[in-house]
Amino acid sequence: MNSDEAAYAALFAKIERERGFQGNLYRQKCLRRRVAVRMRARGVATPAAYAALLDADPAEYDRLLRVLTINVSKFFRNPETWAVIKEQVLPDLLRRQEPLVMWSAGSAAGEEAYSLAILVWEWLSAHGRDGWDGVRIVGTDIDDPSLEAARAATYSELALSETPPALRRRWFTAGDQFRLKETIRRGVEFQQLDILGTRPGFHADLILCRNLLIYLDRAAQRRVFGTFADVLRSGGYLVLGRVETLAAEVRPVFHVVDARERVYRKR
Ligand SMILES: C[S@@+](CC[C@H](N)C(=O)[O-])C[C@H]1O[C@@H](n2cnc3c(N)ncnc32)[C@H](O)[C@@H]1O
Repeated sequence: MNSDEAAYAALFAKIERERGFQGNLYRQKCLRRRVAVRMRARGVATPAAYAALLDADPAEYDRLLRVLTINVSKFFRNPETWAVIKEQVLPDLLRRQEPLVMWSAGSAAGEEAYSLAILVWEWLSAHGRDGWDGVRIVGTDIDDPSLEAARAATYSELALSETPPALRRRWFTAGDQFRLKETIRRGVEFQQLDILGTRPGFHADLILCRNLLIYLDRAAQRRVFGTFADVLRSGGYLVLGRVETLAAEVRPVFHVVDARERVYRKR
């Protein structure tokens, strides 16, 4: 480890002690670039000087954590993945007529969990099933401001740019912003959870985890895949989307459902 790496490692260890965010388990290049943004904004030149600034001004932790947890998302982001969820994954799960738990891990401001909820509600209604009929949808994220935004469920037009127009009309009330309708909001709960920390207090039949693992180093990714393999029930689905890759160690646990969209079913 050179002195620069050591200085960042010390900074991330400090952030973990103070705020629980385990920066040393993320890909360092990307994370350091993000710290540098805050260092520039505060006019400090070294990680050590930035650590001293965090002591002097603890409110800076919040600004830093907002930058470190990358919260960009959209409803129905990557429509091809949603097509597989809609046409293959949900019909198989919902026809089982059992209580189901669906988990959006790294749910940002709720866009992914609510997109799922819209498809679930529409499938259930189209098949004459009342209410949520035993389906529980949980969004979890490490970032509290994102969870607050998820509960508020009010979005900019940009967040809906990949949403089919009919769904946009049906499920959002347009004003200055787009407010998600109560029916869908009621179907999703949000919890604070560090995917690298304790396991969730539920087993799941579907896990969506997209655009999160790419930020973690290999060892941390393996840890998260271990969690997913344990949390998923047999026959449950794991949806990673196009940018994530399933770790070799857990491949034997899964059948491939769609190689391109990285959709897997637990054996
Ligand atoms: C780029 S967003 C992805 C949102 C959504 N899954 C999507 O694909 O559009 C990544 C999310 O992962 C969250 N995140 C980062 N590290 C996390 C961790 N250790 N535990 C839980 N969530 C984390 C961030 O706060 C952020 O909201």
